[in-house]
Amino acid sequence: MILKRLAILGLLLSLTWCSAHTVKPNEQAIASAHLAATQAGIGILNKGGNAFDAAVAVSAVLAVVEPFSSGLGGGGFWLLHESKGNRQIMVDGREVAPLAAHRDMYLDTAGEVINKASVDGALAAGIPGLPAALAHLSEHYGRLPLSVTLQSAIRLAEEGFLVNEHYQRLARFRQAALLNGEAARAIFLVDGNVPALGTLIKQKDLALTLKLLAGNGFDGFYKGEVAKRLVEGVRASGGIWTQQDLASYTVKERHPVVIDYNGMKITTAALPSSGGLVLSLALNILEQYDLQTMDEESRIHLIVEAMRRAYRERALHMGDSDFFNVPAEVLTEKSYAKQLAHNLDLKKATVSQKVSGLNNAEGHDTTHFSIIDRDGNRVAATLSVNYPFGSGFVPAGTGVLLNDEMDDFSIKPGVPNVYGLVGGEANAIEPKKRMLSSMSPTFMETDTMVGILGTPGGSRIISMVLLGILDAQAGNGSASWVSLPRYHHQYLPDTIEYEEGAFSKAVLLGLTGKGHSLKRKEQRYGNMQVILWNKVANKITAASDPRGEGIAVVEKVANR
Ligand code: DON
Repeated sequence: MILKRLAILGLLLSLTWCSAHTVKPNEQAIASAHLAATQAGIGILNKGGNAFDAAVAVSAVLAVVEPFSSGLGGGGFWLLHESKGNRQIMVDGREVAPLAAHRDMYLDTAGEVINKASVDGALAAGIPGLPAALAHLSEHYGRLPLSVTLQSAIRLAEEGFLVNEHYQRLARFRQAALLNGEAARAIFLVDGNVPALGTLIKQKDLALTLKLLAGNGFDGFYKGEVAKRLVEGVRASGGIWTQQDLASYTVKERHPVVIDYNGMKITTAALPSSGGLVLSLALNILEQYDLQTMDEESRIHLIVEAMRRAYRERALHMGDSDFFNVPAEVLTEKSYAKQLAHNLDLKKATVSQKVSGLNNAEGHDTTHFSIIDRDGNRVAATLSVNYPFGSGFVPAGTGVLLNDEMDDFSIKPGVPNVYGLVGGEANAIEPKKRMLSSMSPTFMETDTMVGILGTPGGSRIISMVLLGILDAQAGNGSASWVSLPRYHHQYLPDTIEYEEGAFSKAVLLGLTGKGHSLKRKEQRYGNMQVILWNKVANKITAASDPRGEGIAVVEKVANR
């Protein structure tokens, strides 16, 4: 009996030890959207690099092999956890509007939106942040030089990668934009056509640009020959960039948004991503209810109502906080969520204001990866060029495919962007301002676990991460977070979009009965990459979304 008691005491003590003095993982793991990127990252970890070095390598390889998702011509957010000092920080490498940009730049003289002007071609591109962020990560957080961490990306750009079905689908979708410029057409199409499966895509100019970044850091991209060619190419095609735009680009370090949801600490993206605030609003509404004891239909109804209210706040109040006074403190207060929930009826859908003509993109571009190293350092990063293949424009001699992130601004109040999102003054275009994003790299933490997650998917990123968090709270593991069928509501349009299999017939009927309008998505969406570290068992699992072609690898740490 005494022995048994002692054994239980021992177990309790070891659990407390685990939680209070975080053990180091016995494993390291990377989940990314592409095999080559995961391999490159693991290679860097095994060369003595830390999670931040691996993040540089993974970001750079994704920039080469997933040109439709992210790249040197784009930007992103890298959420970091430094195990030493238990510090969490968001590295903000979001694009900024050029100095010559102005709020009505995509409107004609009658004040109407010029078709595709913020989506296709040089004028659609914000000043890229990704190269600066890689230099920043390497300099401030890494152990290895860029000449080592960018090696795999340079080799893949020189030697080429193989076209797969995903590439073909997105190239077909953006063929018209890619046909518009000589360089993009020559790199990504074959005689103007979508390349056949297995075609090798080599990017010689991109390899040279990467080498200059590896050799000279920030200056290799934002000053000198590359910068000159970028600006010349953009201006020759109707864009407004200047050398000063590039030379003055700055990475920002932000305090992430931290949410306490039923005892789970959630650390996630700060403005200029709306992700953290929208998640905070939704979770603070949901915390007022006991989801676990609710029947399925009521739970889904409630989650949808929380999404509706949280996305509404996005449209009304959110933008780059360096330019607009976003009431972030109010928005994250539990009491504010109480106010938002005051008219939440568990029996009936609340009606969002009606708008029509919204056109949501499918969201199979942009990219996310998650990393944990042997010291417990972590990275969750979501990177983007916005639409598939960004603006479709490559300035000659650079190999850099430019983003069309300017479309994430509110180009006219109430006019939806490609993801159907509306906005107003808070997210209006201003020189040097960062456009509002939905990218939500996220950590979850309790005494017994650490989770790392994120996904592409435009406006649906936030609802996907929300469903992932709720699934983790319900006790499910990493494979479940990435594969569970998804549903989404973003205030406007006033519709629940859902994937096949998300709702049973009975739940569908029940939701319709409550007054919801529902629309089944033709295609499944998202490409979530996650890691779960069970601290009690000291065991890591990782998972890659079955909707994509990514690879998650967990490796035993040798010589510990
Ligand atoms: O920053 C954003 O919110 C968007 N530019 C992300 C775009 C995206 O996720 C595309 N979809 N898969």
